[in-house]
Amino acid sequence: MNLSRRSLLGGAVALSISTLASLGEAETMATQGQDTRPIPTPAPRVARFEKLAFGMFVHWGLYSQLGRGEWAMNMHQIPAAKYKELIKTFTAKDFRGRALAKMAKKAGMKYITLTSRHHEGFSLYDTRGLSTFDVMHSPAKRDLIADFTEGCRAEGIIPMLYHTTLDWTEPRFENDFPAYLQYLRDSIEILCTHYGEIGGLWFDGNWSKPNADWQEDKLYAVIRKHQPEAMIINNTGIGQEGRLGNPEIDSVTFERGRPHHLNRHGHPKYVTGEMCHTMNFHWGVASQDFNYLSPAHIIEELSFARRAGANLLMNVGPTATGKIPDYEAAAFARVGDWVRLHGGEKGVLYQGRPTDISGEGEDFALEMNGDLYLFITDLTATSNTMAHGVTHRGAGARHFTGVTQAFKEAQWLDNNEPLKVDYDSSAKKLTLHATGYPYGTNTVVRVARLKA
Ligand code: GLC
Repeated sequence: MNLSRRSLLGGAVALSISTLASLGEAETMATQGQDTRPIPTPAPRVARFEKLAFGMFVHWGLYSQLGRGEWAMNMHQIPAAKYKELIKTFTAKDFRGRALAKMAKKAGMKYITLTSRHHEGFSLYDTRGLSTFDVMHSPAKRDLIADFTEGCRAEGIIPMLYHTTLDWTEPRFENDFPAYLQYLRDSIEILCTHYGEIGGLWFDGNWSKPNADWQEDKLYAVIRKHQPEAMIINNTGIGQEGRLGNPEIDSVTFERGRPHHLNRHGHPKYVTGEMCHTMNFHWGVASQDFNYLSPAHIIEELSFARRAGANLLMNVGPTATGKIPDYEAAAFARVGDWVRLHGGEKGVLYQGRPTDISGEGEDFALEMNGDLYLFITDLTATSNTMAHGVTHRGAGARHFTGVTQAFKEAQWLDNNEPLKVDYDSSAKKLTLHATGYPYGTNTVVRVARLKA
């Protein structure tokens, strides 16, 4: 196990040269200037996923009883036999898929990705004889993936499933890797055949054995067979943001990294992006981690993900019994208020597409139905800059270049206040005269709509 890769506590991750080299088949999809090769059309599942925009990640398992994050077993070197005893106290008493779905909905999120099995090897679903280390062998004795998928659908939220590919407690992972991979495929087949339509499968852990043959084609074939419309994602992890591995993969990941534009020119397939982030420095609940993001920070992360056309998957770690923590519920709801102020469900946050227009600082533009939406950051001295450390600029002229068309009418989305716009066609430059926030308002990122 390459632990240096997983420096979850410090943030900075030392990726050894050999790890990078071993991912030699991976391809980076960074922007490449004036590429004229054609861009492939997204498959319907990918186009649909891009419009979901905002999702909730849920990390929950036996580790949640320890309150020290989902890596507790590994980080605190708990022997597997001892760790596995946590199954005896796992009641899932407060876990309700529907409550999670309601929380997501309130936040403006359209999907939830739940850890059906994390690195500890414990399954939240009935493995139907594949393993005794599953929820049916715990006091909970109910299939939590059934509860989750049904709860999501009842609220119009798309259920997706995270599944580990590495396993700390299944001996075959170390002793008989081909047999382990068959076990993994059989597990995925269960998830693909007993819970109705799943929005996507999200894998994580191939980085633990970078030189191994993971037989990814066989794994993904199971999904394509039973769930042809499911997104296939495989996390490349911290330090490998935006890397694409297997051609079946539909989205690259940006784990706690700022998504960048993907250059799709000349690619055989349209691949999208998703950034996952967590509320503090752990994914599973960590009762002594006070390092929480604010709603303002989440608003910025969501905005900057959309700038690159990527989704934001914001994580919450329920408590030992499956209760949603109060702070996360409140923070997510506050973000939902902001989402509704900016067009809600059918608005630019979901439907807006990235443009080649560049703004100054973190300002950027999205396009929707021919209208231009300018995202203005750092508008007041109290605006939030913690995510990227931009200096305060306040109200005044905001310049955008690469604008090929004049826009006449402009107004703030939040209060419809009209705004002055200048356009210089020879320089392809547009200037928005941004007013400040009226007292009582501070949306962190403020959006102006310009009509064609
Ligand atoms: C990392 C961690 C894992 C977490 C994942 C979420 O890969 O190992 O615990 O599930 O990030 O992106």
